[in-house]
Amino acid sequence: MEALAQEKKQQQNRELKERILQLKKEKNAIILAHYYQRDEVQEIADFRGDSFLLAQKAASTDAEVIVFCGVHFMGESAKILAPGKIVVIPDERAGCPMADMVNVEGLRALKKAHPRAAVVAYINTSAEVKAETDICCTSANAVQVVNSVDADEIIWVPDKNLGHYVSQLTSKKMILWEGYCNTHDMLTVKDVFEMRKQYPHAEFVVHPECRPEVVKLGDFVGSTTAILKYCRESKASEFIVGTEDGVGYQLRLDSPDKAFHFASKYLVCPNMKVNNLKKVAACLETLSPQIYVPLDVAEKAKQSLERMLLIK
Ligand code: 13P
Ligand code: SF4
Repeated sequence: MEALAQEKKQQQNRELKERILQLKKEKNAIILAHYYQRDEVQEIADFRGDSFLLAQKAASTDAEVIVFCGVHFMGESAKILAPGKIVVIPDERAGCPMADMVNVEGLRALKKAHPRAAVVAYINTSAEVKAETDICCTSANAVQVVNSVDADEIIWVPDKNLGHYVSQLTSKKMILWEGYCNTHDMLTVKDVFEMRKQYPHAEFVVHPECRPEVVKLGDFVGSTTAILKYCRESKASEFIVGTEDGVGYQLRLDSPDKAFHFASKYLVCPNMKVNNLKKVAACLETLSPQIYVPLDVAEKAKQSLERMLLIK
């Protein structure tokens, strides 16, 4: 019975993939997918990447339509960087709880309390918050961005865990917002110790959105792209992975002979997983839901994003 249901699902997916390919051509669309998306969504993407690579791609594509498979702030960043394009997302409910932890009023109050500080915003923020900041960053370039800013004091929003990690690698004074990623913050030292006991020969690779005491245990600490590169190039054949489980898709593609054990069964971002093939086909078909950003907000937010894209 289960085999039958599986065969039916596979057939449905094949049909959806064909439909998506056809619609993509008709609409002159490109599908961008974050590494945390479901496997079948990553599989049909024209381009897979982390937040930084996807922002870069959105800014440079020739396509008329961008289908952004990720969470809301990512689609919004794409629209800000490519205002002439139609940007659609498969499901409007795909938000980022961490991005929602910082608001404009709170940030303005913090800026008032620290008038000499520059504001660095993780790309996981709303367009309105980005418009209040000097420069954006992602986990792939956070240290370079902070060091590039012409100020000794930095207001950092919203991820306190990534902020703590960066603060150890810069001489600047960092004022950290109290936000965090629900998914990464769930990983505990106990989880890692248990995995190490179970897989004593594996290397532990970890994303800096995890808690500082967990990050400290890493054999390697880095952004999604950095983790992928490290695992590809490492001589080790087994890894305990401390980041969202969607990354397994690219890890297994890159290194089919290596073993990847996710450090906890809770390393799944429910927001990233609301997108599926059916919704990708539907948003291409109807060109909705579309992302709109008010012009005045978009103009200011764009400066922060473009400054980030210039950092080498
Ligand atoms: P990166 O894509 O920068 O690795 O960020 C991780 C993340 O949590 C995205 O929401
Ligand atoms: Fe937000 Fe964390 Fe999900 Fe990324 S993994 S979208 S930071 S909740």
